[in-house]
Amino acid sequence: MVAIYPGSFDPITFGHLDIIERGVKLFDHVIVAVLCNPSKNALFSQEKRIEQIKKCTMHLSSVEIDSFTGLTVEYAKQKGARVLLRGLRVLSDFEKELQMAHTNQTLWSGVETVFLATSKEYSFLSSSIVKEIAQFGGSISHLVPENVAKDILMHYS
Ligand code: PNS
Repeated sequence: MVAIYPGSFDPITFGHLDIIERGVKLFDHVIVAVLCNPSKNALFSQEKRIEQIKKCTMHLSSVEIDSFTGLTVEYAKQKGARVLLRGLRVLSDFEKELQMAHTNQTLWSGVETVFLATSKEYSFLSSSIVKEIAQFGGSISHLVPENVAKDILMHYS
């Protein structure tokens, strides 16, 4: 079974990586799909985000990194995937995630969203928090993979 893990990944964090590592234990193939959204003011280009994710998932043979534009369900159909994988951290995520899952159901009744509860140690973690800490000179080595931390530090230095 193929699962799509869609997201912005700007940048990938240990929280995302945790979901990917646990996803590969549940699904035969996991496609990490980076949304190319020109209207979102991303810190890293789509190419850079793909490179960052590839580097930190090299140890996972059943993971593919790709990018997409438009609707996630249309991309999932193209890839022959019926499962969307998402992480749930805290209660406030739930509302947004349920709305997305319901929207996707209305767009394609064949799709299922599977939620994994984020590991406890990453329940506070988000790409935005990482960027905020880095911007003010705080340490982010415990929050993102080494290659990503280097890119962020270079960006803000
Ligand atoms: O990492 P994010 O920003 O929380 O990911 C959000 C994402 C990419 C999963 C969501 O915005 C999305 O699926 N966008 C594609 C457009 C789409 O399919 N919209 C309908 C479902 S809300």
